[in-house]
Amino acid sequence: MSRLHPLLEAAAAGTLPPWTRAGESRRAHMERVAELMERWAGRMGVDAVEVRRWRAAGLLHDVLRDAPPQELRPLLGPEEAKLPDGILHGPAAVIRLRDEGVRDEGFLLAIGYHTLGHPGFDLLGRMLFAADFLEPGRSWKREWRGELRGRMPEEYPEVVRTVAGARIQRLLADARPLEATTVGFWNLLMDEVTGEQEERHGSLEE
Ligand SMILES: [Fe+2]
Ligand SMILES: [Fe+2]
Repeated sequence: MSRLHPLLEAAAAGTLPPWTRAGESRRAHMERVAELMERWAGRMGVDAVEVRRWRAAGLLHDVLRDAPPQELRPLLGPEEAKLPDGILHGPAAVIRLRDEGVRDEGFLLAIGYHTLGHPGFDLLGRMLFAADFLEPGRSWKREWRGELRGRMPEEYPEVVRTVAGARIQRLLADARPLEATTVGFWNLLMDEVTGEQEERHGSLEE
């Protein structure tokens, strides 16, 4: 990626779009997610533009999180409008970003599905999914999440699988449904484990 959309550059530099609907504590969460993203990107040695892209994803993922669901639902197509209230802010942010001319599909998928997970995620999507869950401001299972955070980004494939599994377990424990993209993401992650195992076995047999 050689250039970022000006809205992403502005977000990475600390200025969110005028249509942002995020209160003070939400903005603090977005900043913490962005800090993790920036740190991980730096440690993975991605180029400077890509570091700002990861940071922008952290800052924009919850850009509409504090808008009431009745405002977000009319923005969405019929399928997405059926999603639970707490998930609408991702797909709604994608609509607003597209209106602004953002065409970075990997970025848009990361924002749109940061709560659910999606098998089409690129590395940015996987990292945002993990950072949103692992950021230090959440009180839920603080110590365990801190330990997972300590393994990032070096052990990201395993940590992302652990995060995806934990999110699914919470949904099951609350007797809530799983969206198809969540299941698709999980199955892809499990295929990758099988692939990794086969590769290890293959190399042992040689
Ligand atoms: Fe969110
Ligand atoms: Fe978030």
